[in-house]
Amino acid sequence: MAKNERVFYCSECGARYPKWLGRCEDCGQWNTIAEDVPSREKTIFGKDHIEFQGLSAEGKSTRRIKSGLAEFDRVLGGGAVPGSVVLIGGEPGIGKSTILLQILAAFSEKHRCVYISGEESAEQICLRAERLGLSSSNVKLACETNVDVIISSVGSDTDFLVIDSIQTLCCKSIDSIPGTVNQLRTCAYALINFAKTTSTTVFLVGHVTKDGVIAGPKILEHMVDCVLYFEGEKGNSCRILRTVKNRYGSCDELGIFEMSQSGLVNIENPSSLFLTSRSDNVPGTVTFAGMEGTRPMLVEVQSLVSKSYLTSPRRTVIGWDINRLFMILAVLESKTKISFSDRDVYLSIVGGLKISEPACDLAVALSLLSSRKNIVIPNGICSIGEIGLTGEIRSVPKCVERVKESSKLGFRHIILPGLSNIDGKDFPEVKFKRVNTIIDLVAFLGEEMRNDE
Ligand SMILES: Nc1ncnc2c1ncn2[C@@H]1O[C@H](COP(=O)(O)OP(=O)(O)OP(=O)(O)O)[C@@H](O)[C@H]1O
Ligand SMILES: [Mg+2]
Ligand SMILES: [Zn+2]
Repeated sequence: MAKNERVFYCSECGARYPKWLGRCEDCGQWNTIAEDVPSREKTIFGKDHIEFQGLSAEGKSTRRIKSGLAEFDRVLGGGAVPGSVVLIGGEPGIGKSTILLQILAAFSEKHRCVYISGEESAEQICLRAERLGLSSSNVKLACETNVDVIISSVGSDTDFLVIDSIQTLCCKSIDSIPGTVNQLRTCAYALINFAKTTSTTVFLVGHVTKDGVIAGPKILEHMVDCVLYFEGEKGNSCRILRTVKNRYGSCDELGIFEMSQSGLVNIENPSSLFLTSRSDNVPGTVTFAGMEGTRPMLVEVQSLVSKSYLTSPRRTVIGWDINRLFMILAVLESKTKISFSDRDVYLSIVGGLKISEPACDLAVALSLLSSRKNIVIPNGICSIGEIGLTGEIRSVPKCVERVKESSKLGFRHIILPGLSNIDGKDFPEVKFKRVNTIIDLVAFLGEEMRNDE
């Protein structure tokens, strides 16, 4: 490479260009390209000869170490795997440093744990530890940003290493400032290499950009074994840890915590959290028996359908996909002749949860109809089912688990798709209402209305 050759990198996708461009040709983002020094990439394991082997897993096992914070172990797929690298992203102040300090303190009872901070002073961290009641744990603390110094000082006898945060690290052999694509990539490579060769579990904190994705090129997410996002709403103490990628487990697990004075606390029965605010006898409220990963979770869907004074009525959703709302409104309009075109529609999933399952369609439709027609859906009813474009109600996965959970929480009426593989005899205490089309659903609502009178 010529000595004075200039290189430019896209901070979103890491694409490399010989000159500056306003828009990245790879990922299409604007204003993401900046000049940087060329990276000198090393191969991770640095061998010059490879030895091949078979696929037999004999003698190898995925050892898992549990932290004791059950919700955290759950999102990792049952505990931390030695040698794995976990990236945790989240909004500023959401509690990333707090949860990692708690996890590390828990691991430090039996393992050697090191916490390296590049953004807070030791004093700040000690004060936090004091508040969380963890001052007497065996966690070793240091403030450092030079990745080479970190790796040489941490030593191979360390079992758990937390880096807070990857964006503050720098590698002195590269001239660019911390947080640039090159620095991020080089530091991450070095730490991943360290984790794999010494079987240390490394947790990396990652900042997020205003779009809510981890700052830096997407390749950072490709490089690590597991990516978790820590989410929560302002003014709400509920925090959700979501798996986005996991090489050692399922990637649709959720961990639910409550942020308190003494740190994050497991919430063992999340359905109770999302249902406690259930108000009696108001139209528009319906319970949905959802699944988050392997765990059934009951949540409340609320909607408000009100007269609109706008030329194009408002449609607003919180916690759900707006395109699915458009679809359900269209199906309702065309199949049932109930009009929403002169109404504003607001839909919300209570408790700050985000739901992406199509299985929630039926609950949404029911809630919309309930608010539109001013019919109360009684408290003991919950529903599951996906709605197709022709108005048919389709069956959903894991029906039995959903029904079990609903029954356990006291729901005695369950509305579900006609084709579900549920045997009524297995749940003698529950009354099932099977619906095959959206027309059946409207007919059922008609019955409800008569019962109420
Ligand atoms: N005394 C307290 N009582 C209750 N909660 C507190 C208290 N002090 C801090 N917190 C909570 O801890 C949060 C800060 O946690 P933490 O520093 O772990 O976040 P972070 O994600 O690491 O932030 P950053 O991105 O700035 O590093 C605050 O937003 C607040 O919710
Ligand atoms: Mg922090
Ligand atoms: Zn790009």
